[in-house]
Amino acid sequence: MPNVFASKHPLVAHKLSILRDKNTDPQKFRELVKELAVLLTYEATADLALKPKLVETPMGQAKSFEVEDEIGLVPILRAGLGMVEGVWGLLPSAEVWHIGLYRDERTLKPVQYYNKLPVLPRVSICLVLDPMLATGGSATATVDLLKKWGVMNIRFVGLIGAPEGIHTLQTAHPDVPIHLAAIDEKLNEIGYIIPGLGDAGDRQFGTG
Ligand code: PRP
Ligand code: URA
Repeated sequence: MPNVFASKHPLVAHKLSILRDKNTDPQKFRELVKELAVLLTYEATADLALKPKLVETPMGQAKSFEVEDEIGLVPILRAGLGMVEGVWGLLPSAEVWHIGLYRDERTLKPVQYYNKLPVLPRVSICLVLDPMLATGGSATATVDLLKKWGVMNIRFVGLIGAPEGIHTLQTAHPDVPIHLAAIDEKLNEIGYIIPGLGDAGDRQFGTG
């Protein structure tokens, strides 16, 4: 599938298997979400543009580089919150803009309850952070919002995607690369990813 990247890194596969395990407790689960978010963001940012700069080392001048773009991290509440800390460690000058969405249990459509985006963006690239891409409704609604806001360079960083959600996001926004730790089999009749890991929000926050 064009623009869909399932990580082939052995550490990602190893950590994901512990994350999926129903016996993994919320503390360990949060630690793994953070670590996986870092590994996947490393891959998702491999093509960032650089601008040259000169740095004075103790031994002289070094021709060096810095990331050219202003980056925004956009976690989708709640479950995307657990991905922020690690990614922010990699990109400490990033701005963080939260989007609150929950899935209506009956229709599975996203319902927006939080959005404080300012009128004009100060960032040129957004990384949308959400562990689960199930029907794709939440991710697609978030990308819709960001494009209306004026940011066109958007990447989705998640942990597990279902084929249905990948198809929905790709169809609506073929320009948005999707970076995942794994692509799973399917959705069940209530919109959960199979085999997935259960409810990513509940497992992080101990609310299941
Ligand atoms: C989960 C998950 C995604 C969404 C994915 O959030 O974190 O945001 O479902 O499903 P979709 O692809 O079908 O839209 P949920 O609605 O359970 O809210 P929560 O994170 O607050 O628990
Ligand atoms: N949201 C989750 O947290 N898990 C799923 O499997 C689907 C949506």
